[in-house]
Amino acid sequence: MKRLLFLALLAVVWAQEDVLPLAEPCDPEACQLPACRCSGTDIPGGLEPRHTPQMVTVTFDDGVNVVNIQTYRNLVYGRRNSNGCPAGTTYYINHEYTDYTIVNELYNQGFEIALHSVSHQTPDTYWKEATYDDMKLEFADQKIQMSHFANIPIDTLKGIRIPFLQMNGNASFQVMADYGLEYDCSMPTVNQINPGLWPYTLDYASTQDCVIPECPTASIPGVWVLPMVSWVDLGGFTCSMVDSCFSVPTLTDEDAWFEFIVTNFERHYLGNRAPFGFYIHEWYVASYPAVYRALERFLDMVNNLPDAFMVNSAEVIDWVKDPVPVDEYRSRPCRTWEFAPCPHQSCGPLTSDHNEWGAYWMQVCAACPNTYPWLGNPLGQ
Ligand SMILES: *[C@@H]1O[C@H](CO)[C@@H](O)[C@H](O)[C@H]1NC(C)=O
Ligand SMILES: [Zn+2]
Repeated sequence: MKRLLFLALLAVVWAQEDVLPLAEPCDPEACQLPACRCSGTDIPGGLEPRHTPQMVTVTFDDGVNVVNIQTYRNLVYGRRNSNGCPAGTTYYINHEYTDYTIVNELYNQGFEIALHSVSHQTPDTYWKEATYDDMKLEFADQKIQMSHFANIPIDTLKGIRIPFLQMNGNASFQVMADYGLEYDCSMPTVNQINPGLWPYTLDYASTQDCVIPECPTASIPGVWVLPMVSWVDLGGFTCSMVDSCFSVPTLTDEDAWFEFIVTNFERHYLGNRAPFGFYIHEWYVASYPAVYRALERFLDMVNNLPDAFMVNSAEVIDWVKDPVPVDEYRSRPCRTWEFAPCPHQSCGPLTSDHNEWGAYWMQVCAACPNTYPWLGNPLGQ
């Protein structure tokens, strides 16, 4: 009788579609690359640190437009790694005030375009409480929107970063699994920085600390977490975005900034070579020329190291799935991308429901929308 009751209960639980299976402790036997990886600081493929390429991911958040593109053109266009392949950077772009012809330009330069939501709205409790349906409107719809207006292939859009790094439990990851988004780069770790946490999948329970709860606890097979391994500032405090570090060198002191960056880099390079992130907003490097020059020097250094590579974030996941030693990695063919033309249209004024006192102008590589695109109407039809 008891047993029957138990089975009946189970059936009820299973029948509720929205209850996800709780992630179990990771079983390394069952969880194998390329589809699955347990969270941990062990180097993929069991490689020695000296045989492991040190990947460096430089990322910029928020809208791209005429205000910030010149910094990107000056700082990263035309860079190559020491193996001759084009260097990468990733742009986590939100919709508002984005010039899609510039997104198209970044894509054609070989950089990675990733998603940072349609609305990027405040307060951050909106993101904390966001449901599956909210996340669908913010990210699944943005994938379609970005591909449409920038006229770039939809399958090149793989990554997301949630505004304010404010996680909402399982919701964003469920949406990613359902709409073909491969990795999230929103979750800082402050506990696993030395040695650093490598990317992993959510098939099993994560050992990552949850800095901005709620973090996912369900089993969501195949979705990758690219952890934001925190920096340590001059006061010994951790920070996940460089422009949120508190105790930093004098903002006019280029040498001190260069040293600050290199000190953080060496924790990875001389350690377990977990991917090193330089996560920043463009305004910070544009406002402080000494920081800009220090970053430029650091990138020059990386581009000259035989075993460090400035890459698109999606390339980190590709390498983790198929972890080859650095010698083999160096001699592999460079990444390629398909040229995407931009049939440029300047559109506006476009009215919008969410912002009554202003009309918008949009630069797009598609036909003009009828109204300003927003949540629930990503193409502005
Ligand atoms: C995520 O899913 C697990 C398993 O169903 C559940 O226990 C947990 O409460 C969910 N997290 C949130 C924030 O809803
Ligand atoms: Zn942002």
